[in-house]
Amino acid sequence: MVVSNRVTPLTLRQAAAAGGLAVGVLAALQQSGGLWFGWSGETVGRTPTAAKVFRTGRITYALVDLKDSDFEAYYGGFANRTLWPLFHYRIDLANYDHDWYKAYRRVNLQFAELLLPLLQDGDLVWVHDYHLIPMGFELRRLEARVRLGFFLHTPFPAPQVYLTMPWHRQLAADLCSYDVVGFQTATDLRQFQDYVEQELGGEVGADGSVTAMGRRLRALAVPIGIDVPEVAAMAVSGEARRQAQRVAATLADRHLVIGVDRLDYTKGIPERLKAFELLLRNYPEQRRRVTFMQISAPSRESVPEYLELRQSVELLTGHINGRHGEADWVPLRYINRSFSRRALMGFFRLSRIGLVTPLRDGMNLVAMEYVAAQDPEDPGVLILSRFAGAAGHLKDGALVVNPYDTHHVADALQAGLTMSREERRLRWERMMHSLTTHDIGAWRERFLERLRNPPELQPAKRLQPS
Ligand code: G6P
Repeated sequence: MVVSNRVTPLTLRQAAAAGGLAVGVLAALQQSGGLWFGWSGETVGRTPTAAKVFRTGRITYALVDLKDSDFEAYYGGFANRTLWPLFHYRIDLANYDHDWYKAYRRVNLQFAELLLPLLQDGDLVWVHDYHLIPMGFELRRLEARVRLGFFLHTPFPAPQVYLTMPWHRQLAADLCSYDVVGFQTATDLRQFQDYVEQELGGEVGADGSVTAMGRRLRALAVPIGIDVPEVAAMAVSGEARRQAQRVAATLADRHLVIGVDRLDYTKGIPERLKAFELLLRNYPEQRRRVTFMQISAPSRESVPEYLELRQSVELLTGHINGRHGEADWVPLRYINRSFSRRALMGFFRLSRIGLVTPLRDGMNLVAMEYVAAQDPEDPGVLILSRFAGAAGHLKDGALVVNPYDTHHVADALQAGLTMSREERRLRWERMMHSLTTHDIGAWRERFLERLRNPPELQPAKRLQPS
């Protein structure tokens, strides 16, 4: 059973807006089948009393509405104006509001109460992401006899950052209620372990077991991946080709550079635009020879920081086009809407460069999809932020950059635009090897294997050195 706030039933038609969690969980569940419990996407006047259950293909959905006021404080407040900025190192944007925190706990309890009737003893329950950290604790209080796993799709910040949140201890105790807690990278895991040791006086075993708050659990780094053949097939689908042809027809043989993200301040979009402007300034031979298409799907529009970001991106886009554009060449295409997954894969395949430069990102599946969508004979170049979890897998083939260093990113753009086909193929092959080894199925199986065998239940022979 999978539990997450964002559930994307049916098809992922608005993929750029859905984010990595929904894309990843859908891919994992489509392969294995299972039940997906979470928010319906609807808000209502009253507290809901039951989940709406229906089945599509191999997946059974159980969806819960949220009361309007709870939604605002839990999702628009604590999840996205407290935890989201905090976990992405933006203490300056993190608000610590006690009423939001209460609503966050209330919604987590409601979710646990509504999930309970759907559970059977021995079920494996896998909870996802920062919206639902307390859910495991609440399920245990309700005496659910299930195995509980949690996976954090975002980074887990350094203890000094995490400690600024007044409820750091409670949320850490919530994490310790699970049998298995998974993080995207070894850095996130280490930061959680450091916090447990330094602040909770807990112990971290060499086998990854954590003993703290009266419990023993396993904490591990298990990076999410993608369904590589599915993405590759989408990239050559009829829709992908049609959409790509429409764009190609307007490029007049110019190279296409592409960026695709939710419009979120963690994605480093203004910095990326400035880096593109630097390319045009520092490498004038690229003027008129390159077009940058930035697709930024609207996201969390009720949160003020997102509105401010939209305004600053619009201003910057206008500035760059106004300053560098020609009567017959617009350097930057900024699109503030979402596209189907197939269309995006078609755009990726058409592009010479995928520019993925978040300031901080749990994993970033767009980087992986960009690679998997390429033409093996003539692949594009991935420019990837070192602060995206995906850099762990793709560093041997991508041009890895510091997204704050716009000169560095401009130089990487120039390197990508002038790179030989031979080098592009070599780099792409290395990345594909890594993506195939660490794909979505491997992620699911590695996590579930640990959940089926939590530390207490592991056979003794496994714990002995061989
Ligand atoms: C990130 C988060 C997900 C979230 C997604 C989209 O990927 O890790 O939990 O679902 O963004 O954001 P939204 O607020 O629309 O669910």
